[in-house]
Amino acid sequence: MNIGKLTEYHSIEQIFQNNRVWVARQEKLDPNYFKDLAAGQAPPYLYIGCSDSRLPLTQFMQTDPGEIFVHRNIANQICLTDINFLSVLEYAIEHLQVRHIIVCGHYRCGGIQAALEGCSGGLVDSWVNPIRELYLQRQEEIDRLPDREARLNFLAELNVRVQVKNLFQTSIMRNALRDGRAPQVHGWVLDLLTGLIKDLAISTETWHYHPSCRLAY
Ligand code: CO
Repeated sequence: MNIGKLTEYHSIEQIFQNNRVWVARQEKLDPNYFKDLAAGQAPPYLYIGCSDSRLPLTQFMQTDPGEIFVHRNIANQICLTDINFLSVLEYAIEHLQVRHIIVCGHYRCGGIQAALEGCSGGLVDSWVNPIRELYLQRQEEIDRLPDREARLNFLAELNVRVQVKNLFQTSIMRNALRDGRAPQVHGWVLDLLTGLIKDLAISTETWHYHPSCRLAY
């Protein structure tokens, strides 16, 4: 029995069918697979990405269950008042002690498009407003780019840089830095046209010492 596509009208039944096929396959490969999985998690990575259905990073990175702790939202934003994100970050750093944090954006992102072009007419406009502000700050430079795709790609990359910077402004990261146990932070962008992950090689050194924390260091 094969894993079936979920596009048919009976896709909910197909999900359970796929699940049973996959479980049987895993148990054949390793009879202890689920016993080991249930024993606990110690993922080395925290992944902060976009909600877009086309980019489950676990598949693009070929990782196994238990290897990546995940937070996703539209346009992979790090919002300093988002209790959902902050509790994920705190748990990842304080309890799971992840060694790497990956902030991964992507080209052809609907959230980036909404920020650049506006008017989704819904809550997304409010959620991506910080990215729209980013665009307005650099509008002259962005509008000069040769075409729409270049503008969207530029803003997608700029957004990742800013979100990485935001990460360094959380008290959770600042405390971890102070105690010398902060994970390594990476800013990536995924190109859906090629499937390849690009490392933006963001230098985070300058954000290790936040002006508002100067007294503490
Ligand atoms: Co997106």
